[in-house]
Amino acid sequence: MDKNSKIYLAGHQGLVGSALERHLRTRGYNNLLTRRFDELDLRRQDAVEEFFQQFQPEYVFLAAAKVGGMWANYLRPGEFIYDNILIQSNVLEAARKYAVKKLLFLGSSCIYPKFAPQPIKEENLLQGELEPSNQAYAIAKIAGIAMCQAYRAQYGCNFIAIMPNNLYGPGDNFHPENGHVLPAMINKFHQAMLTRSPQLYLWGTGTPRREFLYVDDLATACYFLMKHYDEADIINVGSGEEYSISELAAMVAAIVGYQGEIIWDSSKPDGTPRKLLDASRINALGWHSRVSLWEGLKVTYDWYLKNL
Ligand SMILES: NC(=O)c1ccc[n+]([C@@H]2O[C@H](COP(=O)([O-])OP(=O)(O)OC[C@H]3O[C@@H](n4cnc5c(N)ncnc54)[C@H](OP(=O)(O)O)[C@@H]3O)[C@@H](O)[C@H]2O)c1
Repeated sequence: MDKNSKIYLAGHQGLVGSALERHLRTRGYNNLLTRRFDELDLRRQDAVEEFFQQFQPEYVFLAAAKVGGMWANYLRPGEFIYDNILIQSNVLEAARKYAVKKLLFLGSSCIYPKFAPQPIKEENLLQGELEPSNQAYAIAKIAGIAMCQAYRAQYGCNFIAIMPNNLYGPGDNFHPENGHVLPAMINKFHQAMLTRSPQLYLWGTGTPRREFLYVDDLATACYFLMKHYDEADIINVGSGEEYSISELAAMVAAIVGYQGEIIWDSSKPDGTPRKLLDASRINALGWHSRVSLWEGLKVTYDWYLKNL
């Protein structure tokens, strides 16, 4: 991939896609192809094929997907399985047909088994039961990984699949119900601070442990893997920094300036008890995350305030 390569960034307005666009432009890659959802609906096979035929991208970062937090996955599993299977099938097939040189597919840590041994290694995929609340999404994503591997085996396509942990950063979805835990929490604490609420309720017990990765760190990992990784095996991307949800809440409260009481609603589900990725494979190749959770949270909250 060089500075003049034609690179299609699918999902460039999303959390990951916008970080990738920032990263590639900063590095001088200006031959980027982008289409908004309303210009190209990736669930439409004919439209996707036409786009690839007309523009012939050489490299593809597939960051378009139907993504959401636990509540959205619980309410709309049909959309999560339908949209994701169509988006990835259409893009991968068009990439094969129009001889894309390399494609990067985004899997996710949340598709590993609910009780995977910790830290989770790449070989733990499909070694146990999935977390029920996002099973439809997980099965779609696992199908995407299997498709990358099958297309490599049958057609020799250089399609790689990576497994990032929980991401956050500028451009996140801060919706209290549709968003992931961290941005939803920022929004909740901010609203509680504005209304001077003496108490704030959060889902679950606060005990589950999570690893968070700043999205610009993920963008550097995607770029690094696009340059240096050509294997069929999936590869984890994590920061190695792990916190309980209650520790995360305390950090968010401090950054937002909320001083009320936090009450844990244990009638609501906790999800997977622990989710830490073993990132030794990507670390051994030479990539490491750079941004601490505290620094990343401050930048994310600033972005939230400016884009409220
Ligand atoms: N967020 C995380 O914590 C996380 C963690 C691990 C892995 N990942 C993976 O990273 C990838 C990107 O996630 P993200 O967090 O960046 O999600 P996101 O912020 O929701 O972005 C997804 C993008 O895809 C676009 N899109 C959705 N359906 C589309 C369609 N039918 N046609 C064209 N575009 C469509 C969306 O457009 P609109 O904005 O117009 O809807 C949005 O720009 C996903 O594969 C996800 O599994 C995310």
